[in-house]
Amino acid sequence: MKKIRATRSNMQTFITGGQLGAVAHIHNILPYAQPAAKKMGGTSFQVNNRFIFPPNLCTPFNYNQSQMECINLISDTVTRPTPEMLEAMMQAEVGDDVFGQDPTVNRLQEKVAAMFGKEAALFCPSGTMTNQLAIKVHTQPLDEVICAHDAHVFQYETGGYAFHSGVAINPLAATHGKLRAEQIAAAIKPHQDWLPRTRLVVLENTTNKGGGAYYTLEEVTPIRALCDQHGLKLHLDGARLFNALVETNEPVAAWGALFDTISICLSKGLGAPVGSLLIGSAECIAQARRFRKVMGGGWRQAGYLAAAGIYALDRHVDRLKEDNAHAHRIGALLAQLPWVHSVKPVQTNIIIFDLVNEFTAEDFLQRLKTHGILAAPFGRHTVRFVLHLDITSSMVDRVIQVLKSFSW
Ligand SMILES: Cc1ncc(COP(=O)(O)O)c(C=O)c1O
Repeated sequence: MKKIRATRSNMQTFITGGQLGAVAHIHNILPYAQPAAKKMGGTSFQVNNRFIFPPNLCTPFNYNQSQMECINLISDTVTRPTPEMLEAMMQAEVGDDVFGQDPTVNRLQEKVAAMFGKEAALFCPSGTMTNQLAIKVHTQPLDEVICAHDAHVFQYETGGYAFHSGVAINPLAATHGKLRAEQIAAAIKPHQDWLPRTRLVVLENTTNKGGGAYYTLEEVTPIRALCDQHGLKLHLDGARLFNALVETNEPVAAWGALFDTISICLSKGLGAPVGSLLIGSAECIAQARRFRKVMGGGWRQAGYLAAAGIYALDRHVDRLKEDNAHAHRIGALLAQLPWVHSVKPVQTNIIIFDLVNEFTAEDFLQRLKTHGILAAPFGRHTVRFVLHLDITSSMVDRVIQVLKSFSW
């Protein structure tokens, strides 16, 4: 493994962020880094477990054959930076982003804003933060947000919409996580003192809980028209937008034109270790920047992470097609297996399927684990597989072989 010198600028990252401590580990400088970081005033020395284990070992999950090559289908967030990405990170020119002086963060933000044809973008630690910032920017307390019942903003963001923004959610039943203009129209509330005011619509593309389904521009255009007609803002949770766009070949800027704000994640299929961007008008992003600060999200030499994002956008978008193709292969097999009750239509890199009644997700996942395959439960009989950068074709062959070997 390549060794690098533990310089002062490298050490700073240990104090400001555990995630980058992992980079140092991979570059074999942990033994020098820890004492040096302490000496420089770091109070805690944290390394994210996900990164300190060598690639392809499942040690964090502690299953009984921990030396077996792991096939981790729990999420596309489990990817580790490639050596080339790490190199790009270590070469990054950095500054203090709270003062707007990190050149690599600025470059990433400008690049992403330009891709979407928007005025500005804001680099943040997570997709949860970018979604929450969008809700905060577009609403006032007592407003209401319309989204799908399955939407991440409703299901998995700790009720942050109420906490940060004091708004209500109107979650609509949706097919594979996708909303239609007619059902949104029917959900818009009239202006009455006793009703929350409908202010924002949030769409998710691709849909996570909906099984990786995607919207097309044609499907979103009438929703945009409806929002314009009723003075509503439209936000896109595009955590996995690029998994959709490699299938549809739709232009990124056309997506930018349809939404007031868009959140994209670099830390999912794109394979960066951390980071999401909120994209929108200069005014929205200036406001979001203040709210990011009050949420504790003002960060300093974040350019190391932004460099991973730039690398990912340049090198890892087209290859998302491979992940989608891998998911199609596994999905097609699952649909034929007698112990599988149903599989949601596979469109991108997510597969959600139901097992027959006698087979619980817990039992199934235990059996998979003995073969070195990890996945996530999504209900008593429901399982999710997510394909990503660290899953090779030969791993997919092995998953298929293992699934074929199961009988129930
Ligand atoms: C659709 C969707 N949006 C937002 C997020 C939040 O991203 P983060 O984990 O970076 O907060 C996720 C996370 O998996 C997601 O699947």
